[in-house]
Amino acid sequence: MALRTILHIEDDLLRKKSRPVEKFDAKLAKLLDDMAETMYAAEGVGLAAPQVAVLRRVVVMDCGDGLIEMVNPEIIATSGEQEDAEGCLSVPGRRGLVKRPMNVTVRFKDRSGETCELEAEGLLARCIMHETDHLDGRLYVDIMERELFEDDETGEDDPEEEQE
Ligand code: NI
Repeated sequence: MALRTILHIEDDLLRKKSRPVEKFDAKLAKLLDDMAETMYAAEGVGLAAPQVAVLRRVVVMDCGDGLIEMVNPEIIATSGEQEDAEGCLSVPGRRGLVKRPMNVTVRFKDRSGETCELEAEGLLARCIMHETDHLDGRLYVDIMERELFEDDETGEDDPEEEQE
């Protein structure tokens, strides 16, 4: 495994649309391994392949319940609403207040190409929306209600500084 460099907001690659993965091979496995290592090293809860300069539809997440890998994720249903603080490893030092669905159903492939489906709520649902946005060149700063600052109240109990 190897750490990869995380691109920052000013990099145009973050604005491109990523292409689906077609080959479930050793190269994909290495990308997933490197992305997980890079995410954990940066103390993030999610990372999308374009953030490490690979324009493929691949994301990794760990919102506290273990590593989740998704290849070619598709949001197939959303419901409800939540509003909370959000950050991004590609937008260091900043946070914003972002509205997201409370519940998300996502269909995706695992690293071997098997189709999987996951129903998520709360932070994991937020993370899935944030990471899949990256695959379409969208950053949370594009859709946030407003920027948050150190002394801002969000109405939530002490929001953690999740960086995705
Ligand atoms: Ni992000």
